[in-house]
Amino acid sequence: MARCFVTRRIPGPALDRLMAAHDVDVWPHRLPPTADELREHVSNVEGLLSLLTDTVDEALLDAAPELRAISNYAVGTDNVDLQAATKRGIPVGNTPDVLTDATADLAFALLLALARRLPEGERDVRQGQWLTFEPDRNLGAEVTGATLGIVGFGRIGQAVARRAEGFGMEILHTARSGGTPLEELLERSDFVSLHCPLTPETRHLIDWDALDRMKPTARLINTARGPIVDAAALERALHERAIAAAALDVTDPEPLPADHPLLRAPNLLVVPHIGSATVRTRHKMSELAVDNLLAALAGEPMPHPAN
Ligand code: DGY
Repeated sequence: MARCFVTRRIPGPALDRLMAAHDVDVWPHRLPPTADELREHVSNVEGLLSLLTDTVDEALLDAAPELRAISNYAVGTDNVDLQAATKRGIPVGNTPDVLTDATADLAFALLLALARRLPEGERDVRQGQWLTFEPDRNLGAEVTGATLGIVGFGRIGQAVARRAEGFGMEILHTARSGGTPLEELLERSDFVSLHCPLTPETRHLIDWDALDRMKPTARLINTARGPIVDAAALERALHERAIAAAALDVTDPEPLPADHPLLRAPNLLVVPHIGSATVRTRHKMSELAVDNLLAALAGEPMPHPAN
């Protein structure tokens, strides 16, 4: 039996399998452990099931001398120093594939919400502004025939493209090799949807220059990672109408405090990092995360390795 720390309750029955095999401590609170609390809890564990809100860096690994497996409950691993873990021979696992469709669905939901101005329409109804059928009020953008620029053409980017084909959109995408250059994609797209991982190269990829390149009628959707977009530049772009609207499932900082200045920008829709938040997907993520941890603790390769 190995000692394990699970940094939050995760949905579905998968955790029972881990508990049946090992000595498991589950963080019971709604908010994640602080860095100090995390350090304290990993000091004698062999297995760690972390979330994207937990920073697993050199300092944490130094504080966990017995650690021999890290399973991250996310496909993204930007919260884990993979190099540092690899250097110590610690396998890191993630949860790819199972959240592809749920995340692509949300990206498309946000795209449609921006195109058809759903937040303003709903606000109108609640504020007593639905006076009659008005031919020139709440006019949005046509999705059919519009150009969608997909930045990052991995599993989720491709799943968004499949949805866009059904809507008769023209699709541009960036790619490691081939694809449309980012500058051209930004200039030509009516909608830009971000699907690249957060790396040193993609941090602030969408800065003021990038936003200024977009059409003033264009809309930006981010369901990838908050820091890919420079939040201050986005705030300026929305205020100055350099772009028409933006929808964010991920923000920088995350969570976005309710009094953050970005929230005062016009035409901005923000939801709280719910790309993978369907019952089925979150249960599957739990299964994969537990599979990874059980395998590594048994000395076997993780089924979904990230390093
Ligand atoms: C991920 O898995 O990286 C998502 O952001 C959360 O599920």
